[in-house]
Amino acid sequence: MEKLIVKGKTTLSGRVKISGSKNSAVALLPAAVMTSETACLENLPDITDVRTMIGILENLGMSIRRRGRDTLELTPGNLSKIAPCYELVKKMRASYYFMGSLLGRFGQAEVPIPGGCDLGPRPIDQHLKGFTALGAEINIEHGMIKLSAAKLTGARIYFDVVSIGATINLMLAASAAEGRTVLENVAKEPEIVDVANFLNAMGASIRGAGTDVIRIDGVKRFKGATHAVIPDRIEAGTYMMAAAATRGRVVVEDVIPKHLEAITAKIRETGAAVEVEPETITVDGTGPLKASDLKTFPYPGFPTDLQPPGMVLLTAAPGLSVITENVFDGRYNHVEELKRMGARIKVEGRTALVEGGVLLTGAPVTASDLRSGAALIIAALTADGESHVSAVEHIDRGYDHLEEKLTALGANIYRTADEDYSRQAGGAD
Ligand code: EPZ
Repeated sequence: MEKLIVKGKTTLSGRVKISGSKNSAVALLPAAVMTSETACLENLPDITDVRTMIGILENLGMSIRRRGRDTLELTPGNLSKIAPCYELVKKMRASYYFMGSLLGRFGQAEVPIPGGCDLGPRPIDQHLKGFTALGAEINIEHGMIKLSAAKLTGARIYFDVVSIGATINLMLAASAAEGRTVLENVAKEPEIVDVANFLNAMGASIRGAGTDVIRIDGVKRFKGATHAVIPDRIEAGTYMMAAAATRGRVVVEDVIPKHLEAITAKIRETGAAVEVEPETITVDGTGPLKASDLKTFPYPGFPTDLQPPGMVLLTAAPGLSVITENVFDGRYNHVEELKRMGARIKVEGRTALVEGGVLLTGAPVTASDLRSGAALIIAALTADGESHVSAVEHIDRGYDHLEEKLTALGANIYRTADEDYSRQAGGAD
């Protein structure tokens, strides 16, 4: 195990290049299974989840060639297995995308039931409801989800819950079904559009991604294609929050500002200045901050993944802020750790009351999931003194070269072995 040692109090300043989106990449890689030709993915982030996905694809028989730092060439070769390797799949929840892509390609898939996670219950009932509607037979036994369909037939599917995973999974399977599928009450995140664009480049016929209704006319064959992953709006938002929380001035580069509108608006509400250019956003937190309420919602609302970093920004903003987490039941694992650093936060169900304007102090803390870990790093940067952030493997799953990027912005941060950390970190997303 490793930990990051952060010496605060730091004011971040400079420019940071944003990498490709983790939540796109972990869907695009399984989607490459749909074609028997060669696909090429560019602007992939260098993160653990991508490396895990590569391992799963190679185990399935996909031959993968790295072309340049962030580009992979994927050739199906003798892809024939319908059961991704359990040891790798259990490391990441997003492996459930192999249900949709293997079912679409082979009419069969066997994927372990996704593991539990620190964000509260994360059922996949909407995924399974959709696959059943397309004609798949589903058996759950020995912890495995076994799906099979002699033929997938287009259907009208209304999701009871807005779900990114279910929306993408059903786009994957329906793109190979016979006839038309209409998906309603779908997620509208940019990652949904990114996956739809890749599938269409491979020959699929998907319209309406990014809106409430997606229409899919199934096709029999998929061809190879080249696709560049969109920038990671959650990584970008994390650095934007860090800039404001540390009272610094940071330019995030290679972003799509449209994807960050809710974050830009919220940071402006706390008093920081935000300047938006076509491919960069500058956050200037050098002026006075003020309390602001924060509610998470599916896109285009404020993203739940930035609620933990947003909470740290609000601990730096004098006054009482109210945070309402509307997407997950249990996404406040970072609160107890922030309180160890002196934060004044009270959680009541889905609501957290944050008394801001408190100077945090460095302390040993532990990341419980990817975004809580990022929040603890930001808190450590704002804190007076040294912090040790353990279970950094959670953070490595979704932040590309984190300490290099933060060091370039002026942070005093370095990685070291964590001898006294024994708890085996589980998989989460
Ligand atoms: C995706 O998870 C992201 N992961 C998560 O990011 C993100 O937090 C989440 O969407 C919400 O935005 C990836 O894209 C790999 P959901 P996903 O299905 O698809 C309920 C990160 O840090 N639900 O949109 O699993 C569910 O319980 C990770 O990058 C059902 O009830 O989330 C939740 O309350 C963390 N039944 C809500 O919907 C279902 O069948 C949204 O979940 C599916 C979901």
